[in-house]
Amino acid sequence: MAVEPVVYGASDRPPRGDYGRARDDYTCTQNWSAYTDADHDTYRRLYERQSALLPGLACDAFIAALPSLGVKSRIPRFEEINERLKPATGWEIVAVPGLIPERPFFELLASRRFPVTDWIRKPDEFEYIVEPDVFHDLFGHVPLLFNPVFADYVQRYGAGGLKADDLGAGELLSRLYWYTIEFGLIQQADGLRAYGAGILSSSGELRHSVTSTAPQRIALDLQRCMRTRYKIDDYQATYFVIDSFQQLFDMTAPDFTAHYAAVRSAGDLAADATIASDSRITLG
Ligand code: PHE
Ligand code: FE
Repeated sequence: MAVEPVVYGASDRPPRGDYGRARDDYTCTQNWSAYTDADHDTYRRLYERQSALLPGLACDAFIAALPSLGVKSRIPRFEEINERLKPATGWEIVAVPGLIPERPFFELLASRRFPVTDWIRKPDEFEYIVEPDVFHDLFGHVPLLFNPVFADYVQRYGAGGLKADDLGAGELLSRLYWYTIEFGLIQQADGLRAYGAGILSSSGELRHSVTSTAPQRIALDLQRCMRTRYKIDDYQATYFVIDSFQQLFDMTAPDFTAHYAAVRSAGDLAADATIASDSRITLG
């Protein structure tokens, strides 16, 4: 095979995708004609169920951008989406066989190419799947790539990732990805909303993250975020909240070198480490 498969987190699961199809940069061709009717039907049902859950829970920017994905009744062809995405923000999506290693991942993001897994979950994984599939990647991630500020944030995150990797800080920066791009919450004028793809593509966590009193919520603090370990197979114990994509963009603009040093000397925090009550964001 051209490249090695990847499994993140502690796991005995074999990697799901066929990495033999991948080029050296881990991208592959979306094998659209290989999708079965059952695959298209899984996508259609996931899309229908998830889009009905969004009002009052997903952020306005996501709801506004979702129609840009186009067809809902089957798995879209990535080229169809790129015809709209490229002119909108200069991004394009590229197919990958599954999770890819950090360095090529950062390289794709830095060049405004978002990797999208091309296979879809099996019907018995309708409610939950640990690995990203085409539904998570398209429905969760791609709508906000139509938002110019968020799109720039993701590109700059990729460039920052290459730098972090050179500094041996890739794992620390990946926590920022996790707690913003995957599991971020945003404070809107009318209440707390989700903008992270891991939440937006999950039926259970969408409501849980925004309305449950069980998890802790705290305003995004870069060092706290990069110190905080995360769970890959359960709802998050802690959510980090931003005020706007512009705030996120501005906050992450400065050089992170000093942050990495500070985070290293402060040490890791557990995913559910207690947040002081005066820093905690409460509901209501
Ligand atoms: N500004 C960060 C640095 O210099 C890079 C970065 C940008 C990280 C955007 C995250 C998001 O290292
Ligand atoms: Fe994701």
